[in-house]
Amino acid sequence: MSVAAEIDALETRSLAAIADLSSEADLERLRVEVLGRKGALTAILRGLKDAPPAERPAIGERANTAKRAIEDGLERALGELRARHAAERLAAERVDVTVPARGWPPGHRHPLRTATEDAVDIFERMGFEVWDGPEIEDDEHNFEALNFPPDHPARDMQDTFLLPDGKLLRTHCTPSQIHVMRTRKPPLAIITPGTTYRRDVHDMTHAPMFHQIDCFLVDEAVSFAEMKGLLTEFLTAFFGDVPVRFRASFFPFVEPGAEVDIGCAVCRGSDPACRVCKGAGWLEILGAGMIHPNVLRAVGYDPEAVSGFAFGVGLERLAMLRHAIDDIRLLTENDLRFLRQF
Ligand code: PHE
Repeated sequence: MSVAAEIDALETRSLAAIADLSSEADLERLRVEVLGRKGALTAILRGLKDAPPAERPAIGERANTAKRAIEDGLERALGELRARHAAERLAAERVDVTVPARGWPPGHRHPLRTATEDAVDIFERMGFEVWDGPEIEDDEHNFEALNFPPDHPARDMQDTFLLPDGKLLRTHCTPSQIHVMRTRKPPLAIITPGTTYRRDVHDMTHAPMFHQIDCFLVDEAVSFAEMKGLLTEFLTAFFGDVPVRFRASFFPFVEPGAEVDIGCAVCRGSDPACRVCKGAGWLEILGAGMIHPNVLRAVGYDPEAVSGFAFGVGLERLAMLRHAIDDIRLLTENDLRFLRQF
């Protein structure tokens, strides 16, 4: 084969090879193999000395055009390769700013907290002051000063969490009354929302830890009728327009004592199988009464000069009745399927 033909063949082969290569390293290797000092073109040009002298300039010229064609081919391929890689990277790293955000569901208040805040709010608007009593009490505040007789069943170890030092976890919020009345003089209008503890089985209606708001008002000549008015006001503010009824009942620290029921908002007394009131049409909601003279005496007040009323509401009960929740455990299980409904 003539030198010129060899150059033609090398150019064709090289340009075809360039088209097949897909990395910068391969292109560089090809450049060295074909155009390098020890490359294929140099090797071919070594045969130039055997060509007739008249043809040599033309062959030299042809070698130069071949070299330029191959160099151009390499450069173009390199440019295309780089552009393709850049495009691929851009595509891979592309951020679509129009994709809607995944979102983070906002938290919201627990139904028990909402019930507590609403109840506190209603009392504050009526002029009551919030007082936060201790959860660790002694027998004297939790029972004795509240006129519990020594053999009262509530004092039983079954009901009360006793602490090793002889103190106990308060079984109701009423002992806060004792703290306040011993340090302050009437007139007093106080609410004491807080956590309470009883050694109950954890079932649909009982929990070992629950919450109450106690409320008491002490002044000269406070009457049962005032309490009735205030309670009715509170219950209708909280539940809407529900019927309220008072039943005579007993608590050691009040005389007379009452339990207060509200009409069942779910069935309005019409469904014997109602899962909220169990067909009774009424739901017990709180205990109330006129503060017992023995309690007033225990804090150093004169029962002839001042009187007062007191009542205590279960906050879980408020929340459950408001939302027709039939199991107290739902309030503490943190099941999102439950919580998201509020
Ligand atoms: N302390 C009582 C209870 O826990 C409620 C109550 C408070 C009753 C004040 C009368 C007066 O059940």
